[in-house]
Amino acid sequence: MRKLVQFELWKNCNNCCEFCFNNGFLRNNDEDKKHKIKSVLSFLDSDKMADYNAVGLIGGEIFDRNLYNEDVLEYILTLSDKLAEMLEAQQIKQVWLATGLMFDSFAVIDSVLNKFDSRGLVKNILICTSYDTRGRFTGNKENIWRNNVRLLHKRYPKMPIHVETIVTQDFVEKVLNKSFNVDEFCNELDVHIDFLEPNCGFHYPNKYEHLKFLPWFYPKRESFLKFLQECHRSSSIINKDFLSSHTRSYTLYMDDGKGYSKFTNRAQKDTSLPCDIANQNGYADSEIEMRKDVELFLEMIGNE
Ligand SMILES: C[S@@+](CC[C@H](N)C(=O)[O-])C[C@H]1O[C@@H](n2cnc3c(N)ncnc32)[C@H](O)[C@@H]1O
Ligand code: SF4
Repeated sequence: MRKLVQFELWKNCNNCCEFCFNNGFLRNNDEDKKHKIKSVLSFLDSDKMADYNAVGLIGGEIFDRNLYNEDVLEYILTLSDKLAEMLEAQQIKQVWLATGLMFDSFAVIDSVLNKFDSRGLVKNILICTSYDTRGRFTGNKENIWRNNVRLLHKRYPKMPIHVETIVTQDFVEKVLNKSFNVDEFCNELDVHIDFLEPNCGFHYPNKYEHLKFLPWFYPKRESFLKFLQECHRSSSIINKDFLSSHTRSYTLYMDDGKGYSKFTNRAQKDTSLPCDIANQNGYADSEIEMRKDVELFLEMIGNE
């Protein structure tokens, strides 16, 4: 069984997706970044690693401008070497690297991936990126993202790419009116897709306050129920994993606005973020949990 420990290195990101729960957080400077990487290295050398067999790094954005400082890049390369050694020694089985993939220059991500590729280990890397039908890509960024996915496949054919998409009202409507087709998208880009519930993160007291700024973000229940039926009819995405929390890391170390904290056993929780703010995720117009509706739907179609 995969037991993944995931480290948020920093929240810094230049992409400014409209919905991002990291927007507005204080940014880490280069010294903070080095400190964070050092603490991950110490964790990897400690007895605490005995509980895990996979390691994930997440931002913000790990790559892009965040590694333009040569010292910080050197630290990440040291961390990459360490992870490659752990893979080789079979201390861990997989490394997850999260990235928005919206950068023009491939040099930074290449220098990290080469550390694994040169030892024949890219098959053990999982690139975790994201695609959203609204709020993510401005200007030419969707093209840049698609080209980067293709380029990764070309340079590292054995490395799997995983995409996360937020089930927003906009996404639900685009699937229903057939302007977005999940299966075609996955086939075209050769990616596996997984889905997230929208949530208000740490900035808003609840989803209703968040909704005032992003009326297209949280799905209406009626639309979502139609979406489940449509997807069941036309694709294979509605299965036991749909909106399930067991695809999350077991333990996540991240800044929750009060400091760097540990959130553990996340698979037992029905939330994609480890905070306890009321109404943090789900429907725009109902307190019923989206995942509960998915479970009832799966039961109804005999696919539990
Ligand atoms: C914070 S990002 C970090 C990785 C990378 N920058 C990316 O965008 O893939 C991790 C995931 O959180 C998701 N996310 C950000 N804000 C969200 C929100 N308000 N509700 C649900 N998911 C959100 C993103 O879409 C992404 O899939
Ligand atoms: S790319 Fe990721 S971290 Fe950056 S703003 Fe978008 S969701 Fe947030």
